Amino acid sequence: MKMLDLIEKKQQHIELTQTEIEWLIENYTNETIPDYQMSAFLMAVYFQGMTEQEAGYMTMAMAQSGDMLDLSAIEGIKVDKHSTGGVGDTTTLILGPLVASLNVPVAKMSGRGLGHTGGTIDKLESIPGFDTEIAQEKFIELVNQNKLSVVGQTGNLTPADKKIYALRDVSGSVQSIPLIASSIMSKKIASGADAIVLDVKVGDGAFMKTVKDARDLAQTMVRIGNQVGRKTLAVLSAMDQPLGFAVGNNLEVIEAIETLQGNGPEDLTELCLVLGANMLIANGYTDNFDQARTDLEAQLHNGQAFEKFGEFIESQGGNSDYIRDVSKFSTARYQIPVVASESGYVSDWVAHEVGEVARMLGAGRLSLTDEIDPAVGIVLTKKVGDSVQEGDTLAVIHSNQEDITKEMARMQEAVTIDNQQIQPSLIIDMIE
Ligand code: URA
Ligand code: CA
Repeated sequence: MKMLDLIEKKQQHIELTQTEIEWLIENYTNETIPDYQMSAFLMAVYFQGMTEQEAGYMTMAMAQSGDMLDLSAIEGIKVDKHSTGGVGDTTTLILGPLVASLNVPVAKMSGRGLGHTGGTIDKLESIPGFDTEIAQEKFIELVNQNKLSVVGQTGNLTPADKKIYALRDVSGSVQSIPLIASSIMSKKIASGADAIVLDVKVGDGAFMKTVKDARDLAQTMVRIGNQVGRKTLAVLSAMDQPLGFAVGNNLEVIEAIETLQGNGPEDLTELCLVLGANMLIANGYTDNFDQARTDLEAQLHNGQAFEKFGEFIESQGGNSDYIRDVSKFSTARYQIPVVASESGYVSDWVAHEVGEVARMLGAGRLSLTDEIDPAVGIVLTKKVGDSVQEGDTLAVIHSNQEDITKEMARMQEAVTIDNQQIQPSLIIDMIE
């Protein structure tokens, strides 16, 4: 087989075979195919797209390019959940215990990531003693025992995706739906999920800026998943403003705890119930969405979701005193309000900007070796649709530095106050 032939085939919109795609991924991973040819191929995909068949073959070839986690020793259908970015998104911390409290197994591998705040692993590590570096046998045992375990990414997972993603990043082919879909799905499949629920974010704080693109991406991923034998469902959710009130590591952990106790922000709670209901359906617990949602809601109010969280924290060595008394979490030295300069209704909180301010304060990383400050971040006090009077607090900046002139200016830029009240959107669609 010759790489040039495959590039030309893709250019001419001719469907590639499974053998050709497997050959391509294998030989790019082992460095037989040079970057310049692969980037030409990826650019051809960017313009010509891929058929569902091709995207499915590409996903499986990438999943199989490294270790494939074997979680078959876990009883039941393990459901994984993936969000495509977002700001202040604490859903994983809530969904794990919430879903597991109904005996649906959640075996989650999570990365640290380069977000505006840390990833799920960083957030869990803010609880003293919590261990995310757990051997595979122990991980399996914990899920069988408690229905829930979360560990850091280990091993050599999807090396093909790592190489291809890095190449796309420097050659202008990141924004290609079949490439994004196969990249995300290959990682989910390699990490052993039987069923997958995707939360595809739409809006200025998200990867997909329009509902049309988000829907295309969601449909592509759902079809790939089902094609390769993993039940896959997707939710399209708005990311025009940060989710919940808190953006920052300890602040988000505390918000997750409140949500698990039934006292969470309305939007965060609602999204967790919708995603959780889809996880129950993907697992086969029920095929009735309303039933699933009602059962989950009960777990938030009867204490069982929160109990499961405590059990999970202790099972991985964490000090659960922290979750029973959140005043134990470290707090930032300065808490400085962002004040409304006029009266009206909040009509926009640019999620991406709020996230960037959190990162400037030290809540997130720019490179994987950066340290995160768990105490800093932002707590919104007003959200889109809320009425405000001039002088009201819109948000509180939690900072360990005294001079936050730049951060404050950026927060003021990020908010819009209007004289018309608008209803924020949250759940845009569900796709199966
Ligand atoms: N996230 C991924 O993991 N892959 C992409 O290609 C884009 C976003
Ligand atoms: Ca939040």
